[in-house]
Amino acid sequence: MNITIIGAGNVGYHLATAFQQTDHHLLQIFSRNPKRFAHFPPILAKKCVSDWTSINPKSDVYIIAVNDQAIEEVSQKLKKTQVNGIVVHTSGATSTEVLRQHEQFGIFYPLQTFSLAKTVNWQAVPFCIDGNSQTVRNQLFQLAQQLSPTVHLITDKQRQALHVAAVFVNNFTNHLLTLGEEICQEFDVPFGILQPLIRETFEKVQSISPKIAQTGPAIRGDKTTIEKHLKLLQNHPDRQLLYHLISESIAK
Ligand SMILES: NC(=O)c1ccc[n+]([C@@H]2O[C@H](COP(=O)([O-])OP(=O)(O)OC[C@H]3O[C@@H](n4cnc5c(N)ncnc54)[C@H](OP(=O)(O)O)[C@@H]3O)[C@@H](O)[C@H]2O)c1
Repeated sequence: MNITIIGAGNVGYHLATAFQQTDHHLLQIFSRNPKRFAHFPPILAKKCVSDWTSINPKSDVYIIAVNDQAIEEVSQKLKKTQVNGIVVHTSGATSTEVLRQHEQFGIFYPLQTFSLAKTVNWQAVPFCIDGNSQTVRNQLFQLAQQLSPTVHLITDKQRQALHVAAVFVNNFTNHLLTLGEEICQEFDVPFGILQPLIRETFEKVQSISPKIAQTGPAIRGDKTTIEKHLKLLQNHPDRQLLYHLISESIAK
């Protein structure tokens, strides 16, 4: 298949790098901002375009990997370039409806966290795919299988729920880790002391339910400890509020 990727951020870059190593043909990578290509290896750089009129309409698949709120606008721009391949986006939260102006459209959502600076282990990236016909679903399924052994056919509603769950388990926990790091810095203790605890927290839920794994003052009902913690956080009302809300949620 000929593949074109629109967007050269975290997901666009990593997908381009991954498809470059498959039997598929990475045709083009589009970014409105050519500065995005500066760190690309030469093999990818020569496939980069930044002008909509340069989009090759002969691609079999167009993967839109831009900010959620720009997907619809990009989809419309793509339509004007007379493309007739399958058009997909990579967003967990965005409906397939935003691509409805295309004859063949679908979802190509990699359920993982991507950062430019971190190499991707595609074996550990579940794909959630969907399409507006059985043919499209089959083609996207096969395409995803080229990158990962785990591919799920997921509806719009299921994917959007999964995305909320992903925000809780990844984005929110990462933010809580950031707060933990800041508290360590404030009291001059190395954050590294917490690394075995962080590792065990995530390893434990590989074998038991997080509900069963829950420990700490809130689940035990240790009110005195909770009050001490809230006092220690008194110079940070935002942290105090989070501590209080999460403790209440755990206790319930
Ligand atoms: N990062 C993740 O962990 C992750 C995981 C799964 C799915 N996703 C999904 O993948 C998509 C891309 O996320 P990302 O993390 O790769 O974002 P990102 O790193 O911020 O990159 C977004 C890209 O979209 C481009 N863009 C934004 N608005 C545009 C517009 N109006 N027209 C053309 N290009 C536009 C940006 O171009 P400029 O440089 O010019 O701003 C940039 O190249 C999102 O839908 C996201 O929900 C992300």
